[in-house]
Amino acid sequence: MTPRHFLTLADLSPAVLGKLIQRAIELKAGHQRGERHVPLVGRTMAMMFEKSSTRTRVSFEAGMAQLGGSSMFLPPRDLQLGRGEPIEDTARVISRMVDVIVIRANEHAMVERFAGHSQVPVINALTELHHPCQLLADVQTVVERRGEVRGRTVAWVGDGNNVCHSWMQAAKVFDFELRVATPPGYAPRPDIAAACAPNARLLADPSAAVARADVVVTDTWASMGQEHEKAERAKAFAPYRVDRELMRKAKPDAIFMHCLPAYRGHEVTAEVIDGPQSVVWDEAENRLHSQKALLELLLQPSR
Ligand code: CP
Ligand code: NVA
Repeated sequence: MTPRHFLTLADLSPAVLGKLIQRAIELKAGHQRGERHVPLVGRTMAMMFEKSSTRTRVSFEAGMAQLGGSSMFLPPRDLQLGRGEPIEDTARVISRMVDVIVIRANEHAMVERFAGHSQVPVINALTELHHPCQLLADVQTVVERRGEVRGRTVAWVGDGNNVCHSWMQAAKVFDFELRVATPPGYAPRPDIAAACAPNARLLADPSAAVARADVVVTDTWASMGQEHEKAERAKAFAPYRVDRELMRKAKPDAIFMHCLPAYRGHEVTAEVIDGPQSVVWDEAENRLHSQKALLELLLQPSR
């Protein structure tokens, strides 16, 4: 049987994703009550990360432990993959030994190739194109704060990057309006934008994107792998900084979100990210609960 992978949000149906968010909220409540819930005893998760991570790594490892399973962190340089063993062979071998594989990769195509040869579910823990696990936590956070995400207006201000692409897919799947404001030359990929229209709309003006929005989101101006473009990007993105003046154009009770890590004074001012409208710490915590719901779903197909 072909395993169920989670490489982009489009891999799960809107109905399944909706249930997953509700399950994440339930698991969070159970965790806060101190309940023990260990459906994955004896199951193993392998994690292959080609790039740095704080939230994704810690939330997956902690989540798997809380569900009763165990995990192993495998930096590719420590694997024979780092010495030239093919991705396909690595996938065939590791997937005969573990129950789920979580990969953070430089190239989305690598995760697709790996998944194509894996006997067990593969989860995308971020590539240059998508960050679907982030959006599970983000949608959970909006639902917790606003009751539902359907019909809301979300403004993305900044780079048309991997997290932006996943927000665009989320807009389509969860049926909300996403206004994406990026500087010229930094728009999201046209094929992803086309697939997510009309829920996701591209604009140039950050004020127009934020006008009366329920949620304002941004991310770093230079993603992992783009460090050498930092100075050039800082110039292009300066008018796209989320500051108090821009937040005033959103609804008075709008929330501010950021996947983190954040660079205060660049894409967001300290007074916004550390201010009363910011929900970034709940958003980060929800990585744990939503990924536990994802592991349950992928490892217990009967759920
Ligand atoms: N938001 C996020 O994925 O953070 P990490 O890079 O720390 O995992
Ligand atoms: N866009 C950022 C997200 C980090 C979680 C990056 O790819 O570096």
